[in-house]
Amino acid sequence: MKKIIVFSLFSASFLFAALLIFNPQTATGARKSLPVAPGTELPDSIMKFVQKTCMDCHADDGSSMAKMKVNFSKWSGYDADKQIKKANAICKELTKNSMPPKKWRANNPDNVPTPAQIDMICRWAKGLVK
Ligand code: HEC
Repeated sequence: MKKIIVFSLFSASFLFAALLIFNPQTATGARKSLPVAPGTELPDSIMKFVQKTCMDCHADDGSSMAKMKVNFSKWSGYDADKQIKKANAICKELTKNSMPPKKWRANNPDNVPTPAQIDMICRWAKGLVK
């Protein structure tokens, strides 16, 4: 009798562990898809980051070269394709450490993007769907 109880406890915990391991959301770090459309605003966490780190240049009152490429003041005016394309370009620039530019980093050492912030941006970008 005891053996049966031990055995069923053992199988139950095995099943539980297997569920945890094979749950695709746990395995991929719970990448949620985030639908975008014209008019979609940046999520607060992303907005806070770009305000501090990018909008000196990439905003209506920023530099003309920078805002031609990405203008965070006009983000919600971008259509879904453009939001997805730009979000992925932003992830790429951050991953390569190309943005913000070197000179800006040197002048704003406290706001240089951290690996965790870059990860947050890339997860957001990769989750966007039409
Ligand atoms: C000091 C001004 C400045 C800051 C700060 C800055 N950028 Fe830029 N960025 C530019 C300029 C100028 C360009 C256009 C010329 C170029 O591509 O180098 C640009 C281009 C880009 C591009 C387009 C690259 C391409 O080749 O298509 C992306 C994406 C970008 N920036 C993202 C960002 C992000 C994200 C941040 C904040 C983390 C940021 N930038 C901060 C000045 C800036």
